[in-house]
Amino acid sequence: MMPLPALELVARLEDAAWLDPVSKKVRKVVKTVIRPRWARDVLHGVPVGHPVHPLAVQVPMGAWISAAVLDALPGNERASAVLVGVGALSAVPAAVAGFTDWSELHPQQQRVGLVHAAANIAATTIYAASLVQRARGRQGSGKALAYLGLGTISAGGFLGGHLTYRQAAGVNHSEEIPHRFPQGWHKLAPLADLPDGKLTKRDVAGIPLLVHREGNRINVLSDVCSHLSGPLHEGKLKAAAEIPGGTAGDNQPCVVCPWHKSTFALRTGEVLSGPATARQPLFSSRITDGLVEVCLPGAD
Ligand code: FES
Repeated sequence: MMPLPALELVARLEDAAWLDPVSKKVRKVVKTVIRPRWARDVLHGVPVGHPVHPLAVQVPMGAWISAAVLDALPGNERASAVLVGVGALSAVPAAVAGFTDWSELHPQQQRVGLVHAAANIAATTIYAASLVQRARGRQGSGKALAYLGLGTISAGGFLGGHLTYRQAAGVNHSEEIPHRFPQGWHKLAPLADLPDGKLTKRDVAGIPLLVHREGNRINVLSDVCSHLSGPLHEGKLKAAAEIPGGTAGDNQPCVVCPWHKSTFALRTGEVLSGPATARQPLFSSRITDGLVEVCLPGAD
């Protein structure tokens, strides 16, 4: 089947470097306005384990689609106006979460995301105008504007789908590790070769692993950051207590990704701070006759 011509346009949008100065300015505003780390983590979706934005958009989309159905039937003017208003109000927190995620993406993703956001802002503005018209008793133009808003938000949704499913923004970039890593125990390295208290990288069965030694305890995570595949072995080693918002007195070691500063606990793989929302795959390790071996629980 031939792909839609619009797909080609969107693919070209990924290379539209002329959008980068605008992205830079918007990104600066987002980082200035949404500053506290805890707020950014909540908006990214760290507590729920996946991005909040796709959940939050369900409310305006549901309200606006329902309004479109009611607008097609006579006698539903009041209910339809309420739904248009609910959609316009609930679009605001959805947009805030979306901009927070967008501010930590690659340039190609930000270009598509910028147009996605512009379409959604335009749609929300059109719906607000629809509400004004309805309040003035001009039901015909109110309904026409609402259908225009629905068309615009659908175009924005198409770009959002491209951003997520083609450009892999917001998805877990470590998901395939349990399907690629072979079952059982595998040789990692002689214990003596692993520097104590440092981050190193080792490859086992073609999978890059982040290795951190604490005496005879060896912490091993996937080296590919679950956010956007950053190389964690190039990141910074910190104690959890040093992370803003971290638990005071908690000295467990963690790694800060070099790309967007997601922070993971080295002993558990847990996300301590976003933008990543998915934990890093955690490998079991054992020492046999001075040789460190690793195994991935749950490997296929
Ligand atoms: S790649 Fe973005 S935080 Fe690691």
